[in-house]
Amino acid sequence: MIAQNKPEKYKVKIKRQDGPSQPAYYQTFEVPYRPGQNIISVLQYVAANPTTTDGKETSSPVWDSGCLEEVCGACSMVINGLVRQSCSTLVDEMLPEGNTITIEPMTKFPVVRDLFVDRQRMFENLKKVKGWVPIDGTHDLGEGPQESQADQEFRYALSRCMTCGCCLEACPQFEKDNEFIGPQAIAQAVYFNMHETGKHLKNERLDALMGKGGLNDCGNAQNCVRVCPKGVPLTEAIARLGRQITVHAVKEFFMGSKG
Ligand code: SF4
Ligand code: SF4
Ligand code: FES
Repeated sequence: MIAQNKPEKYKVKIKRQDGPSQPAYYQTFEVPYRPGQNIISVLQYVAANPTTTDGKETSSPVWDSGCLEEVCGACSMVINGLVRQSCSTLVDEMLPEGNTITIEPMTKFPVVRDLFVDRQRMFENLKKVKGWVPIDGTHDLGEGPQESQADQEFRYALSRCMTCGCCLEACPQFEKDNEFIGPQAIAQAVYFNMHETGKHLKNERLDALMGKGGLNDCGNAQNCVRVCPKGVPLTEAIARLGRQITVHAVKEFFMGSKG
């Protein structure tokens, strides 16, 4: 939705935190309206003009970003109460919700400073599910097996994940201090399990996801899929992984096999 009556200026309320164990506080800044502004450019304006609406000179807010085109996943923030990418969220979309835009860091990751959070847990979770294709050399192995169109399309949708953390921020089961691995790592396990070479590690991925903090901790609330900026089919991935785990568990039970 585009702002109908564009204001000359609007307010931005930013949640600040000077360090990981420091108390959080809010500061409000006034920003001149420009058409087509994204939230990152608002933060850039505030960083260059760090004076609050009550005239206090303060430090420039700190945030994380990289690509500025919704690819790197670094710039996730809670904007007007909903987790989104600050590079692709436009001021015009946020202003109809009032004349103040509120920007806060994600709550499910430790704050490094201000809006900059530490997303390392996501990368550790990718290691737990062996989120890679194992290769044993660079020699030419020839063409790989043919893949159906449907599988290609599903894998492409999963490959769009940019480890931004929005799904984890929205997931009621994923908390700062629990062990749930979350929908992003589950979807990447499915992605690599479908790859012809990646599937060599399928059993190890399933073993990891059968344990504590694995698939069983998902409550199927489906909040994750609603907020994913890349449209990753998370709930379909969760359902597929559930089926893979069931087959894997039955095989292990009857054959004591990992095959
Ligand atoms: S699945 Fe979507 S929301 Fe979750 S980390 Fe990947 S891109 Fe972000
Ligand atoms: S379906 Fe619900 S509980 Fe499961 S990962 Fe998604 S948001 Fe979390
Ligand atoms: S800066 Fe890379 S996704 Fe926003």
